[in-house]
Amino acid sequence: MKIAVLKETKEKENRVALSPHVVKSLVASGFECIVEEGAGLKSYFADLAYTTAGATIVPDSKSAYAQGDVIVKVNAPTSSEIAMMKSDCVLISFMWASTNPELTKALAEKGITSFSVDAIPRISRAQKMDALSSQSNLAGYKTVIMAADTIGKIFPMMTTAAGTIKPVKVVIMGAGVAGLQAIATAKRLGAIVEVSDIRPETKEQVESLGGKFIELKGDDSIKTEGGYVKAVSDDFLKKQQELLFKHITHADIVITTALIPGKKAPVLVTEEMVKHMHFGSVIVDMAVEQGGNCPLSELNKTVVKHGVTIIGESNLPSLLPMNASELYAKNIQEFLLHLATKDGFKWEMDEEITKGSLITHKGQIVHPSLKQ
Ligand code: NAI
Repeated sequence: MKIAVLKETKEKENRVALSPHVVKSLVASGFECIVEEGAGLKSYFADLAYTTAGATIVPDSKSAYAQGDVIVKVNAPTSSEIAMMKSDCVLISFMWASTNPELTKALAEKGITSFSVDAIPRISRAQKMDALSSQSNLAGYKTVIMAADTIGKIFPMMTTAAGTIKPVKVVIMGAGVAGLQAIATAKRLGAIVEVSDIRPETKEQVESLGGKFIELKGDDSIKTEGGYVKAVSDDFLKKQQELLFKHITHADIVITTALIPGKKAPVLVTEEMVKHMHFGSVIVDMAVEQGGNCPLSELNKTVVKHGVTIIGESNLPSLLPMNASELYAKNIQEFLLHLATKDGFKWEMDEEITKGSLITHKGQIVHPSLKQ
């Protein structure tokens, strides 16, 4: 089987689906790898590193798509990229299929079999394939580094002859994968960290990292499933905003990571709160692509509002492309080796990981959540 690695075409994307290190391992397992010229350059992987690892470099995407039995990408393909694929190929990439009906329709019409890495079930045995976690973890780290680079203060307490500097106070909203890494990073830099999440089990995780959990009594409107918040009422969010007011308005840095899968992100930092924050404070809104946890954040922009700098970068893993690509490549390798051998795919259609991530197959949209 020939695996084709493409140069990502999405704006500001620096990642690549396979690293030379993983190519070497796949070649050793009997796969053939072809790599579009320059595909890894923005992740600092030279073409020579890929050829040394056993891959063949092809001059353009057309030749890569024309030869690839398996197409591996970070981002979902565009319609012109789909047009270049072989009709019987297998595509593996992020797809966000439930919010991307035109993509799934186009893939099914072309007869392409597609697996979406964001749909891989988050079960223990799939942890090595979990690209959502590998990328969110890096994103959480980067939010803190960006905030540290933006705020005109140092993080730790420092006693000097000229006086004592107080440590910065960081408030983190949402203690999922990204939030937990943000807590660990801010603590390492010396900040005082306070955290809010509405899944009660996060309290212990926050405290084990040295964060202070902001206690908030839940209500019946909070619905959780499989570790995710599925729903929460406007009334509850109002109560949460009231409780958080003093924490947020006393913070130097607020990092928001709160998401409800498939829905608009909850508003946690209101304009009124921003108005009351200290002049020069910083907000990093990781939920900006899903509408934002702060209504003042703007997609892929850094703006200053009411004296507060608000960072709305949507693709944080792309800013750490060396690590992000290496971890993503490892996720893809594990996923591929779960689904296939060098001789072909196993097509275990009732197996949980296969069933959970297969989006289109044999000209049909097959994912259970999309069939209707
Ligand atoms: P996410 O990105 O969907 O959400 C981030 C966080 O926002 C969550 O912790 C959520 O509780 C929180 N949140 C939602 N509404 C909020 C509100 N109003 N206020 C404050 N916080 C709010 O979540 P992520 O990081 O993708 O994963 C979360 C879950 O998935 C966790 O339970 C985690 O343990 C589980 N997981 C399981 C894995 C496995 O077993 N293989 C791997 C990775 C994650």
